[in-house]
Amino acid sequence: MTGEKIVSKGLEGVVAASTRLSHVDGEAGELVIAGFPVGELAANATFEETTWLLWHGELPTPGELKGFRAELAEHRELPAATLPLLRECARAKVDSMDALRIGLGTVSLVSSEAIAIVGLAPTIVAAYARLAAGEDPIEPRADLGHAANYLYMLTGEVPNPERVRGLETYLNTVVDHGFNASTFTCRVIISTGSDLVSAVVGAVGALKGPLHGGAPGPALQTVFEIGDASRAEEVLRGKLEKGERLMGFGHRVYKVRDPRADVLARAAEQLYQRSGDMKLYSLARSVEQTAIRLLAEYKPDRRLQTNVEFYTALLLHGLGFDVPLFTPTFAIARISGWIAHAFEQRAENRLIRPKSEYIGPRDRRWGSRL
Ligand code: ACO
Repeated sequence: MTGEKIVSKGLEGVVAASTRLSHVDGEAGELVIAGFPVGELAANATFEETTWLLWHGELPTPGELKGFRAELAEHRELPAATLPLLRECARAKVDSMDALRIGLGTVSLVSSEAIAIVGLAPTIVAAYARLAAGEDPIEPRADLGHAANYLYMLTGEVPNPERVRGLETYLNTVVDHGFNASTFTCRVIISTGSDLVSAVVGAVGALKGPLHGGAPGPALQTVFEIGDASRAEEVLRGKLEKGERLMGFGHRVYKVRDPRADVLARAAEQLYQRSGDMKLYSLARSVEQTAIRLLAEYKPDRRLQTNVEFYTALLLHGLGFDVPLFTPTFAIARISGWIAHAFEQRAENRLIRPKSEYIGPRDRRWGSRL
């Protein structure tokens, strides 16, 4: 604090807008999405229904849903320039989130509409995943739902209903979450009067970082590194002793267990149960318990608990996704939330422009530099 000014580093605790989209209660460990408890919406809705709910404030009627699904499916074909660009990305081995950012930028060649951004994102991610693996991209199918078509474009196989349900539960769970860093980025860009593609591309950049959406890959790698529950304490203690953060734990808002972790843990459990192999799931549960115990020991005042990313990693791995797909898949879900926030920002816009406190020198003179 200097003079009358209070500097809120990281904008912690600052309320920057009102929203009807989602409510995060960090003390109670509750998340409400457009009126629904996250677990109820996540396990029951299709991703198209959730997207409509966020964009319109109500669930769609059967007729509206049919029309929306069809319209979304019409926007799955990549613009002509996108595939050569993604091939270049694969040749240069760029990060999958960078490829998504580059690919999404090309949406402006064909449209600036919300539906085109949502419709094209899975095609870009799936095409890049296949190109990066030395395989040809698979054309989207208009007869499949959003989640099923994404799974299809990754493998060429029409997924069974359990896999589709697993993915839809994930997409719904992470679709929106208050004023997280990427959503805030999106709203800042929209508040200047800029367009949706620019706002979503900016938000992808914010989501990429390991303190936000980049955590599930490292979280899963830690579980693999541990390998056996008997080694959990030794490995995790080693990381904490070196001052490293345990990925998948801690949250700016939640001071109790992230409710999304429960929803995703349940979905992952069902998936692993059906596969007949619970080894990885059981190991992850055991790693989680050890991590929470050690975090309480090392950071007793911080109340560090499991966040959404820990079980994201487990669920997406169970769906057969490789680590580079984790954060882009998060983006595929969150794009619908970002766009809903963009609509809300536009409806009651005021330029987002906070102040800073200057702490640099004031007494320099040009002539004295020699
Ligand atoms: N492991 C070890 N220590 C941690 C962790 C962690 N996962 N998280 C926070 N801490 C410690 C910090 O080292 C710091 O300790 P200190 O005060 O002794 O220096 C203290 O807790 C506070 O940390 P901050 O970074 O100030 O807290 P913030 O509210 O910014 O943290 C964050 C939130 C960034 C998510 C943090 O908990 C973290 O880095 N977690 C690991 C990465 C992760 O899982 N990210 C995904 C978040 S969920 C999402 O965005 C979708």
